[in-house]
Formats: sequence, structure tokens, C-alpha cells
Amino acid sequence: MALRKKIIIALDVKTEEQAVDLVKELKDYTGAFKIGLELFNSIGPRIIESVKDAGAERIFLDGKFHDIPNTVSGAARAAVRMGVWMFNIHVSGGFDMMESARLAAHEEAERLKIDPPLMIGVTVLTSIGQDTLHSQLKINSDLNDYVLHLAELARQAGLDGVIASAREAKRIKESCGSDFLVVTPGIRPSWASANDQIRIITPHEALENGSDYLIIGRAITSASNKVSAAEKIIAEIELAHP
Ligand code: C5P
Repeated sequence: MALRKKIIIALDVKTEEQAVDLVKELKDYTGAFKIGLELFNSIGPRIIESVKDAGAERIFLDGKFHDIPNTVSGAARAAVRMGVWMFNIHVSGGFDMMESARLAAHEEAERLKIDPPLMIGVTVLTSIGQDTLHSQLKINSDLNDYVLHLAELARQAGLDGVIASAREAKRIKESCGSDFLVVTPGIRPSWASANDQIRIITPHEALENGSDYLIIGRAITSASNKVSAAEKIIAEIELAHP
């Protein structure tokens, strides 16, 4: 796979026009575009069609589904009908929720004679630290062990991978197998601002650690020259992984 296809650009904008403009400008520098809850809930499902019409080949719907199995299965079928390439669900919804969503998505894809989307598990949100895990959620495990446990549960339920920091990618691959995908946010080239991300890692380090896909937002989308920021990142990873 060409290394630029491993980049997923986060369309963290409010309007359809901004999203479409970003796709037109950056479509040749990425493998996919990520539509999150703000954009999806602001515009509605038609945003998927709009960004596809603008040239986005693959869409990651970052909808983080979490509900009873029957409801998440329905949402998964709808994601298949929208033609997304990847979507995610919370692993903490449990094995039955994940498994029934996977079965529903695969059934719907078969009915439509299309490839099923990749289904990725959200383990522990990066906004939740060890203290919150213990004091509010009453989960007494070590945070890293808990992430690993959830990744393993996602694998058992048949998900294709998890969202995780590149720092955890190696342990996840060791435990869940090298084919189990690790999709990594918090990416910052050394020359870009960290913004509000704390545990950041460079694109090259993330690939080195075993991440399969790199979610990159502001390092590209807030750059004064977005194309040159994307080109610089691609050149860096191509140089490091010839
Ligand atoms: O601008 P930046 O590169 O920090 O954007 C990262 C993207 O990845 C955002 O869309 C953010 O919501 C998402 N994300 C994250 N951390 C997670 C999961 C998703 O930053 N644990």
C-alpha cells in the first residue's frame, strides 16, 4: 500500500463548504477522510455524499456507536448503506453488541453486494486517565492493561482493529495479532504545534511502532499551506519507510 494511503485526514470543521473545500484540496494526499460527530450531526448523512462528490474515495465515519445490540446493529446497517469504508463502535458496549453489529454490517454488505466496512473499536477515550477510570468508572485495572483487555475483547467479537495510541500499538499487535488494525490519532510532525494533544507521536514513529493508519487533523488542516504540510509528512514517512 502506498504510504500516503495510511493517512486519514480528520475533517474537524463545522460546515459542508469547509469540508468539501478540504477534500478538494487534499484528496491526492491521503487514503481517507474522517467525518466526526460534529460535522455529521451538523449536516446529516448527506455530508457523506458531498465529500464523496468532492473526490473523497474512502470515508471513516467516527460515530462511536454505543447502545444496546439491536440499536447498534441498526446503526451499523445504516453505515453500510451510506457506503463508508470504516466506522467505529465503543468496545465497552460489550461482546454481544460488537458481535451483533458485525454480523448485521456483514449481512447488509452481502445484501448490497459490496465489501463490508472495517469496524474499529474505541477502547478508552484519551480524555479518560487512570484517576477517572478508578474514581468515577470504578474500574480498578491499570489503564494500559484495561486498553489491552478491551482490544482483545474487540478481536474476539470479530472487529477489524482498534483506535489506540501508537505507544500501545506494539502490545496490541503482540496480543491480538499483526493483522489486527491499530488506527492512531495524536499524530504531530516534529515541526507542527501540539495543540491540546498531550501524548503525541510523529508520523514516522507511529508507523515504526506498528500503527496501520494515522489520523491527522490540525497538523494538515490548520497549516497555512495545507498541501505543503501534507507533502512534507508524506515525504518524511516515505524517507523513513522506503
Ligand atoms: O487535530 P488532531 O490531529 O489532534 O485531530 C485528531 C483527530 O482524532 C480528531 O478528530 C479527534 O477527535 C480524533 N481522536 C483523538 N483521540 C482519540 C480518538 C480520536 O484525537 N482518542
